[in-house]
Amino acid sequence: MTVARTQPPSQYLPGRDGHLRELRFLRRQWVVLAHEGAVPEPGDNFAFDILGCPVLLRREDDGDLSAFLNVCPHRGGPLAWPGQSNTRLLQCRYHGWTFQGDGRLIEPVGFGRERRDIHCAAPSAHRLRIDCHDGLIMACLNLEADGAPPPVPAALTTRLATASLVATEIFPAECNWKLYAENWLEAYHIQSLHHGLSNDIQGETYRVDCGPAWAEHSAKPAKGTYGGYWAFLYPVTAINFFTDGFSVEQISPLTETSCAVQYQFYRFKDVEREDGIDAEIALTRTVTAEDIAAAEHVQKSLAAGIFEQGFVSKDREPGILALHDFLKERLPSDTRLRNEP
Ligand code: FES
Ligand SMILES: [Fe+2]
Repeated sequence: MTVARTQPPSQYLPGRDGHLRELRFLRRQWVVLAHEGAVPEPGDNFAFDILGCPVLLRREDDGDLSAFLNVCPHRGGPLAWPGQSNTRLLQCRYHGWTFQGDGRLIEPVGFGRERRDIHCAAPSAHRLRIDCHDGLIMACLNLEADGAPPPVPAALTTRLATASLVATEIFPAECNWKLYAENWLEAYHIQSLHHGLSNDIQGETYRVDCGPAWAEHSAKPAKGTYGGYWAFLYPVTAINFFTDGFSVEQISPLTETSCAVQYQFYRFKDVEREDGIDAEIALTRTVTAEDIAAAEHVQKSLAAGIFEQGFVSKDREPGILALHDFLKERLPSDTRLRNEP
């Protein structure tokens, strides 16, 4: 039997002109933007960056959800500042142009004598196609992409419940986004790398199951903090469950050698102790720092030329191979991943 190999260094290092094409490819995929608990009330906005694009999620007056590229057609200003806010109208924060819930211009406020010409040109805010699975909102950032939203695992949606966004955190990582994703996708490292986490779960019950567009991890918790279920939705988002809530985790590539690991933490509505999620956030900080340290070390070794292609266990690291297959099937040929050196 041939042991599978890791990807060649060129997939993780600068100088590969495919990086921009890879980013464009990622923007054509459906990604999890947030859970609807980030915008519970009419007029609520939640703005953040993903895959290098500012985006805005908004709850309209009629309760519907909409998402936009967070950019105004006047001169590229923000329709909402990053984070959560509430505004009666969708209104640019730069010079005040106003827009309807579908993105159409209401008024180029204060534009002057050419106001009518602007109305004739009818510039609009770029509304994204979204898809909602039990409160989990997915979107495709490329306005021209026409692919259907992917399925998500049933075990994920059945765990989602009414929840509120309580915190966001961003961890910069000096590694190619795929190194962090590959780390997430295998549990082989838990015992060696995460001493705290390995005490909190029953390691012998850990399972990784790969679906058509996802990998599911499950394990029986040993203590009260972990929910025992984690789902990675290829290519860049994950949902991690705790006892009191869950996190939406987004791996957002910045350059060939850096990415941001972004978390949104949600607390279930019916939890007894409101501060229980604080311990879960603290655990996430520890585990993420450990994962980033390992991925950054691999990046450094690749950059130094002292590591090239390693090995991937079909038994212990199947999620990595499934991600590579997912990307191989979809990436443009000039950025395609390879299995052989
Ligand atoms: S950039 Fe939006 S109103 Fe000017
Ligand atoms: Fe990890």
